[in-house]
Amino acid sequence: MATHRLSFTYLSQEDLLDAGCFDLRMAMEVAEKTMLDFEDHRILFPEKIVQIFDQASQDRINCLPATLLDEKICGAKWVSVFPRNPKKHDMQNLSAVFILSEIETGFPVAIMEGTLASNMRVAAMGGIAAKHLAKKDSETIGFIGAGEQAKMHLLAMKVVRPSLKECRVSAKTAAEEEQFINELSPLIPDMNFISCQTVAKQAMEDADILVTATSAQAPLLKAEWVKPGAFYSHVGGWEDEYAVAQQCDKIVCDDWETVTHRTQTLSRMYKEGLLSHNDLHADLHELVSGHKPGRQSEQERIYFNAVGLAYVDVAIANSMYQRATAAHIGSSMNLQDTMVFEHHNIVAKIRL
Ligand SMILES: NC(=O)c1ccc[n+]([C@@H]2O[C@H](COP(=O)([O-])OP(=O)(O)OC[C@H]3O[C@@H](n4cnc5c(N)ncnc54)[C@H](O)[C@@H]3O)[C@@H](O)[C@H]2O)c1
Repeated sequence: MATHRLSFTYLSQEDLLDAGCFDLRMAMEVAEKTMLDFEDHRILFPEKIVQIFDQASQDRINCLPATLLDEKICGAKWVSVFPRNPKKHDMQNLSAVFILSEIETGFPVAIMEGTLASNMRVAAMGGIAAKHLAKKDSETIGFIGAGEQAKMHLLAMKVVRPSLKECRVSAKTAAEEEQFINELSPLIPDMNFISCQTVAKQAMEDADILVTATSAQAPLLKAEWVKPGAFYSHVGGWEDEYAVAQQCDKIVCDDWETVTHRTQTLSRMYKEGLLSHNDLHADLHELVSGHKPGRQSEQERIYFNAVGLAYVDVAIANSMYQRATAAHIGSSMNLQDTMVFEHHNIVAKIRL
């Protein structure tokens, strides 16, 4: 008799780390390929589902599906964003799980921890943007925000701009800056880290690459601190004054259309009639495919804003699953031994 067992691979964050999946080069390569697949209409990318539980804090759980037609994988990211977690529970605000199914039979193949992939995706998109838009000889990077996204961003920026040698970090508290430095300095031993004691100006003024990755909703970054030739990656919500974008020579988004529906600085400017489609230089995939140019002069100030493309998350999660499987890492879990009415003792288990 045919066996009707169904099983999938379960991957914890520790499994993913053991399998060498914390690899931003891999994440960037996968993200680039997937953006090209998207241009070729090889990706299904329906609307995400959003459930907000508290309007003031924006505590929410979102479900973001996507299908990679070439890889024959349909996946979804189930992601929680609870901005008060760090303060209330001393825990991260974002947590995520992925489910991946193959599309020959539709059966699930993997369920996996998703915070790592999700945070790597954010940084990978910033890194790819920097590859095209930051000055080649960038040496100084400044941060407002010292949380999970900021840490991951620094790693990606160092991959694409190995010339970076000074990192200045500012956050809401000096303790967070210290933690950022304590965690990152062993990973990037040739970087000189400077804690700016919460003074954002000190972190950002004169930096070649600027990153804001905060949970604030305020114009923290001032235009006068952004020097000619700088590349700015905007990760969070509203965190820069409008004049930053207004003085930039190029604005690049991961997806402009999505940006117009959100609430970060560019979205606010768009809704207030201060920014239009004509102000956009390109979506990131157009730089990757070469349809639009990246940086064209040493003097350009360039603004990059990513709001998150879940098909890239699913692609990175799938590449992690493939790498872990090749390394025989992960736990195989049974979904069912056989179909319901085939269980030999079903008569004892059914409740009628
Ligand atoms: N663009 C994307 O695709 C994407 C994806 C995930 C998260 N995000 C956003 O990125 C942001 C950062 O996320 P995270 O996970 O790193 O958060 P986190 O809670 O780990 O860190 C937030 C940081 O913001 C700093 N901060 C808050 N208010 C500040 C202020 N007034 N001045 C200076 N620093 C201040 C805090 O000190 C902290 O270092 C959030 O807004 C999140 O929603 C964006």
